[in-house]
Amino acid sequence: MKKSHLRFETEVIHTGYNSGEHQDSLVSPLYQTSTFTFANAEQGAKRFAGQEEGFIYSRLGNPTVKILENRMAVLEKGEAALAFASGMAAVSAVLFALTKTGDHILCSRGIYGCTFGFLQLLKNKYEIDHSFSLMNSMELLEKEIRTNTTCIYIETPINPTMKLVDLELVVSIANKRGIPVVVDNTFCSPYLQTPISHGCDIVIHSATKYICGHGDVIAGIAVGKKDFIEKVSKTTLKDIGGIISPFDAWLLLRGLKTLPVRMDRHCENAGKIVEFLRNSPKVLSLYFPGDSDDPEDMVIMKKQMKKPGGLVSFSIKGTKETAQAFMNHLKLIKIAVSLGDAETLIQHPATMTHAVIPREDRIKMGIEDTLLRLSVGLEAWERHY
Ligand SMILES: Cc1ncc(COP(=O)(O)O)c(C=O)c1O
Repeated sequence: MKKSHLRFETEVIHTGYNSGEHQDSLVSPLYQTSTFTFANAEQGAKRFAGQEEGFIYSRLGNPTVKILENRMAVLEKGEAALAFASGMAAVSAVLFALTKTGDHILCSRGIYGCTFGFLQLLKNKYEIDHSFSLMNSMELLEKEIRTNTTCIYIETPINPTMKLVDLELVVSIANKRGIPVVVDNTFCSPYLQTPISHGCDIVIHSATKYICGHGDVIAGIAVGKKDFIEKVSKTTLKDIGGIISPFDAWLLLRGLKTLPVRMDRHCENAGKIVEFLRNSPKVLSLYFPGDSDDPEDMVIMKKQMKKPGGLVSFSIKGTKETAQAFMNHLKLIKIAVSLGDAETLIQHPATMTHAVIPREDRIKMGIEDTLLRLSVGLEAWERHY
């Protein structure tokens, strides 16, 4: 991808689209087609042989999807991107591409429940092992990276405890060993954090969240070096087939245009909620990037994030039932998993997004039974009297 000189707020609207190539349509068109016609048999043969550029069949590429991929590559400071049918399709395709039987994946302590589920599948079916690390010191990382570690997998902020991982610290050790660093950047979006600019190799998104922003699409994105993305495209994506539909790609392109405006508002509203919760006698602990008891977190946040984001976790004084009763009493806030939507959502990780993780492991990850996670929406934060 060519280096862009546009600002982020301009790139989200214009990058990767040239109206002159699409009948001068202001908005990128929706190519809702499963296949593409060839002028003649020879042209079809050339396209299949890779001797002529052009589309063949939408599982192998589609113009609307391509615009989204090109735009995401630029926004995430990568060389190329691939869109998928879901965040989990992106996670699984990337991990499949980086591992084989006998390998080991080192993960941040605290990852999305279904990513945890996929790691179990890799272990049980393909003998690809994994372990979790706090990743908070060189010494620890040196100890926990094994000779067969072929991938370091990070969520930062960690879902749902909001602890941060210092990307440059991990990269400094991973680079020495030639181990690719993968970051799930779902919680930040490229507006708040671009891991590739800190030396990471691959970025993954559940585009279902802030990239879409409107709660009406399930999709995933992976961004990285051109060679790696091409390999995933021609192997895992083509043959397993978890591709995004052109319509969903079109909706994501629409959502992306307002990403910076939405993120600023999510962050402003989250800050107000944090202020409120910090003073509430009902709240036992609060989890927000840069707001933990660990002063290092603030240093890391300032180094790699533009703002703390729109997600706030907190634990309520009492029991699991107290936390559930609290949720049931909310009037406007919706009880739902997912995040990054216009509506404020609340969920109970121990029984919802992280329920698949055995309780003992969950507690080690800091996910107590009284923990709640808020995805702060775009509503007015002040009361209207
Ligand atoms: C951090 C994170 N990564 C990955 C995923 C999976 O994404 P999807 O639901 O789009 O498959 C999620 C879903 O909630 C998530 O929160």
